[in-house]
Amino acid sequence: MREFPREPGLRIAPSILSADFGRLAEHVAEVEAAGADLLHLDVMDGHFVPNISFGPVVVEKLRPHSKLFFDTHLMITDPLKHAEAFIRAGSDHITFHIEVTDQPERVIDHLRELGVSVGVSLNPTTPVSAIERILPLIDMVLVMSVWPGFGGQEFIEGALDKVRAVRPLLKPHQRLEIDGGIDFSTVVSATQAGVDTIVAGSAIFGQADPGAALARLKALAMRAREDGRG
Ligand code: DX5
Ligand code: ZN
Repeated sequence: MREFPREPGLRIAPSILSADFGRLAEHVAEVEAAGADLLHLDVMDGHFVPNISFGPVVVEKLRPHSKLFFDTHLMITDPLKHAEAFIRAGSDHITFHIEVTDQPERVIDHLRELGVSVGVSLNPTTPVSAIERILPLIDMVLVMSVWPGFGGQEFIEGALDKVRAVRPLLKPHQRLEIDGGIDFSTVVSATQAGVDTIVAGSAIFGQADPGAALARLKALAMRAREDGRG
């Protein structure tokens, strides 16, 4: 199991959803060499979201080809049933959606027993109050800036207000991630609003040179962070 990134710092997490699955290992090696910090794995069950992506077997086959931390985003109705298979396959971290359960503590306990770090994600219309109670129990909050289900959608600006609301509630060891519609412009506003972990799918793997796109996104985010502090 790789260590959860507890230290504050800016991190880019390419989402393989927009990669060429026929050349997945190659594509991942490219972004790893270019400075990717985490690898974001989008798991969809065709039930919680209207799309199906991939299951644990893809994680298992990819695992020997990468040293990156596998940041696994479960967009599925039943994380209690399926999380373990992803962890056995090589996931280092599991983020589940708060909308799927009335008993998030149970899911968190289960994931802790399996030894992974834990994130909780909020859909665009889910209020921050839905996760306030469990904040002390988790490692990361994932704010969705699109409706989950597909890559390449337009950024929902309202996500920035949510990021601003969550930021002051977090302790230094907790990460704040944003996911959906990140490009060379929205990466700046998201970083200024307070995220430290940035998922990007089409803005990286949809480009002719994914490594160069990742480097540019990271440079823009770093600068926005520095300016924000200025
Ligand atoms: C959306 C997924 C995202 C997606 C982001 O349901 O959770 O991680 O891959 O793709 P882009 O960056 O293209 O919006
Ligand atoms: Zn995701």
